[in-house]
Amino acid sequence: MTTNYIGQPIDRVDGNAKVTGRAKYAAEYNVPNLAYGVVVSSVIAKGRITKIVTNEALHLDGVIQVFTHENAPAASSLDKSYQDDVAPPGSPFRPLRDDRIMFSGQPVALVVAETFELARYAASLVRVEYQVEPHETDLAAKRGQARDPTPRRFIDPPIEPRGDAAKAFAKAAAQIDVEYSVPPEHHNPIEPFATTVVWEGGGKLTIYDKTQGSQNNQRYVCKVFELPESDVRVLLPFVGGAFGSGLRPQYQLFLAVMAALGLKRSVRVSLTRQQMFPFAHRPQTFQRLALSAAADGTLKSLTHEAVAETSRFEDYSEQVVNWSGELYHCRNVKLGYKVVPLDVCTPCDMRAPGAAWGLFALESAMDELAHELRMDPLELRLKNYAEKDLNTGKRFSSKALRECYKQGAKRFGWAKRVPEPRSMREGDSLIGWGLATGVWEAMQVPASAKAVLTPDGKLTVSSATADIGTGTYTIMTQIAAETLGLPIADVTFELGDSTLPAAPVEGGSFTAGSIGSAVKAVCEKVRKKVFDRARKLKSSPLGDAKLNDVTFANGRIVLHSDPSRGVSIADAMRQGKGRSIEEDVSVVPNDSKQSRYVRHSHSAIFAEVKVDEDLGTIEVSRVVAAIAGGRILNPKTARSQIMGGIVWGIGMALEEESVIDHKFGRFMNHNLAEYHVPVNADVHDIDVLFVEEQDSIVNPLGAKGMGELGIVGTAAAIGNAVFHATGQRIRTLPITLDKVLISAAGRREAQKSAA
Ligand code: MOS
Repeated sequence: MTTNYIGQPIDRVDGNAKVTGRAKYAAEYNVPNLAYGVVVSSVIAKGRITKIVTNEALHLDGVIQVFTHENAPAASSLDKSYQDDVAPPGSPFRPLRDDRIMFSGQPVALVVAETFELARYAASLVRVEYQVEPHETDLAAKRGQARDPTPRRFIDPPIEPRGDAAKAFAKAAAQIDVEYSVPPEHHNPIEPFATTVVWEGGGKLTIYDKTQGSQNNQRYVCKVFELPESDVRVLLPFVGGAFGSGLRPQYQLFLAVMAALGLKRSVRVSLTRQQMFPFAHRPQTFQRLALSAAADGTLKSLTHEAVAETSRFEDYSEQVVNWSGELYHCRNVKLGYKVVPLDVCTPCDMRAPGAAWGLFALESAMDELAHELRMDPLELRLKNYAEKDLNTGKRFSSKALRECYKQGAKRFGWAKRVPEPRSMREGDSLIGWGLATGVWEAMQVPASAKAVLTPDGKLTVSSATADIGTGTYTIMTQIAAETLGLPIADVTFELGDSTLPAAPVEGGSFTAGSIGSAVKAVCEKVRKKVFDRARKLKSSPLGDAKLNDVTFANGRIVLHSDPSRGVSIADAMRQGKGRSIEEDVSVVPNDSKQSRYVRHSHSAIFAEVKVDEDLGTIEVSRVVAAIAGGRILNPKTARSQIMGGIVWGIGMALEEESVIDHKFGRFMNHNLAEYHVPVNADVHDIDVLFVEEQDSIVNPLGAKGMGELGIVGTAAAIGNAVFHATGQRIRTLPITLDKVLISAAGRREAQKSAA
């Protein structure tokens, strides 16, 4: 047995609970006297409610109440009470606040009944009359009104222009100036949003919520309903995916708490898949990319201008264009990012917000430039490799991107690529090979953890973070077990509970590095205490030893110099008169050290597509992802994270699109039949290789985070492969077969008229 766990492909410690159904989700906590709330949603996108007729619903035996803006229990009137940790600037949406409708699907009533079925039926009887006002949901039609967003916390505005991009562009040997379009997309986690509020009596609430942050939502509930923090506990031991949709409290939380307080009983509100489409989505965007280069491929200018949607009531923005000023060495750069307020719910962070679509445009444009130059797209990237970040003039804390290109290309067989589009075939299929670069932030944020080692040698470590499917339970257990040299089975990690030590929302790929560093630090404190006890044992072989002289492994503390001499942790614990050892820590990032560097993870994504020449169907037959994400804590969970991101990239490239009918201002394909995501038949060979980096700057663990990097660049790699296969550049996602066929027909027409 060994207790070196960090870097090992340990199975998920919560895997058994998940596959056997013991893991419970927010809508699965059954308590006595539970009432069920069903939401009635607005069918218009903008206007006012003139009348809500509820008596038909209320007359049904078993219907308890219908809450509307006319009878909703009191809640805070201050905007700031509704501003959660992740809220962008503005005035957050408040359910049932007044008669105003701001987006289609907005909740306008909550029907509460003794059973879910009854509540659902009663909801169908609620009649709402509206005074309709004209709405605007079409970004393409309104893009002329784009303006700067109000600065948002943690989001840098586009850097100031450097050099003169327009002048350099005009003089360059090769130029491209194109526009890319990415539609709105939805997170679509498997677990729908739901909240079960348990009325504990005396005003105390225990809340099982589908969210990414227990304390974020606890604070929200306390501020909005003016409750003391000690009266509200938010729990989320398991979360069935979220991808950013749960970074902010969603409206079912407000409605469930409101109803529980109003009725003084336990209430559950669960949303349908349809009811999840009005909120949280990736904003629709247009991006202009103008690149120019010398004949040898040296980048001469780079212009990247993005336009995205936001809502009328909040200014949502993302980190989109600054990557373009950083990723390649270029002296003439102009970046821009603007938003257009529309009559929609505020968009929301979705897996690698900003980078996922910003890098789609940049990396597609780099491919277009390479084609223009008749240069290998990998060579073009190497030619312009950024040794430091020209946006800030800072060095990278670590950047093994060159190695990613090299190892990924080798694994993929890139050297065998025939450069000319439409030149590689297999039967009826055109084969295309494309590549793209990925980049994401390696953030560390303040986090706390607590550790309790009991006399029987069992360790429990806890922090209020979440595990949204990422593997947090597992990697935290590994870090704790290794630090104290205990078997995995003797270590329990607890999370998803607002009463645990402070942690932010799980997001930004910062959980492994941030919470992990707190777990490591708290276990090191425990380690010191156990060691002190071990030394004080009667005739202890460690009597004269210092902490640096020993190793904690296999449940024992042994001398480096003579591993046969040592003390078991259980013996050491007995020395303490049966008392447990309890420690807690808060770890804050070392800002003065970190701020001198740019801290990012990188990747090189290679994709192969097979395109049926007659039918236009596209299959992503192979993806090789070479990942530089610092130290890999668990290659199994890390690989799953990257694979998941790549599957998302396949979806983004070929399938995903939330379609608004602008006549109604509503997302029309609001279900998983019509909102397409990759299924097993769409996912083929995905090969993930890790290029490990030693990085002591990003955080004490050296881990950069894996949740988001995988999607970044993947859609571009696939789009570039489609171009290589077909000779057709589809700049509007998703790349569906109709676009490929129409584009092919257009090309044949053009050839004919040229001839
Ligand atoms: Mo992520 S989009 O920070 O959940």
